Amino acid sequence: MKGVILAGGLGTRLYPLTHVTNKHLLPVYNKPMIFYPIQTLVNAGITEILIVTSGPHVGDFLGVLKNGKELGVSHLEYAYQEKPDGGIADALALAEDFADNDAIAVILGDNTTDADISSAVSSFIEGSVIFLKEVDDPKRFGVAYLDPVDKKTVVKIIEKPKDGLSNQAITGLYLFDRNVFNQIRKCDPDWAGRGELEITQVADFYLQEGKLKSEELKGFWSDAGTFDSLFQASSFWATKK
Ligand code: TTP
Repeated sequence: MKGVILAGGLGTRLYPLTHVTNKHLLPVYNKPMIFYPIQTLVNAGITEILIVTSGPHVGDFLGVLKNGKELGVSHLEYAYQEKPDGGIADALALAEDFADNDAIAVILGDNTTDADISSAVSSFIEGSVIFLKEVDDPKRFGVAYLDPVDKKTVVKIIEKPKDGLSNQAITGLYLFDRNVFNQIRKCDPDWAGRGELEITQVADFYLQEGKLKSEELKGFWSDAGTFDSLFQASSFWATKK
């Protein structure tokens, strides 16, 4: 399996810091943010990685990551998302040549976790796997509703639900088979009313085909895209033994 880290977007919620550099190069405790998703992939045995990025500071990545060798990456590629806020699925579309019909593990570049995804990666065959985390405030997230008997089967996905019936937040980690790029071509920018190609709609296409499974993300997980979550993630890594 190959890995894709989505590090486009504009990071507007972290202005003025993101006037200086790309969000994913800002420090989370003692490392640039993007080191964490790279490490999650490398720890799962995925060492061929594509970073999709965009915005005014894209050149900064090269100076920090070079060829990725210091982080255990055997092959590092970059792709440039022309429309920085085209959406997460728009960024992922750029990975088609890199994936070259292989399955891919995808992580949002501002997500940090100490979870080990290696068994989900090695047992992946087809369809898609989303990684879920129980949260106290599900109304802020995309949420999955699980089959009460087969708890890995997702029956419904709702973006920011009002009902509070499931607290299973969809994190920014996904496994996809090679069909993902055909699914992205079906995406409608108006699906969630934001004018973006949404990765949640891609997962929803797999769900409709009965090919969406879930895994619990065991351990710490947080994005680092707001000042509060950046602080929370930094605090976690500063105190982790
Ligand atoms: P977001 O945090 O939703 O968007 P953003 O990074 O542009 O930040 P803000 O809302 O503060 O302006 O994106 C989550 C992750 O997804 C982020 O780490 C980068 C990635 N992403 C892309 O690669 N391309 C995109 O078009 C978008 C919207 C996000």
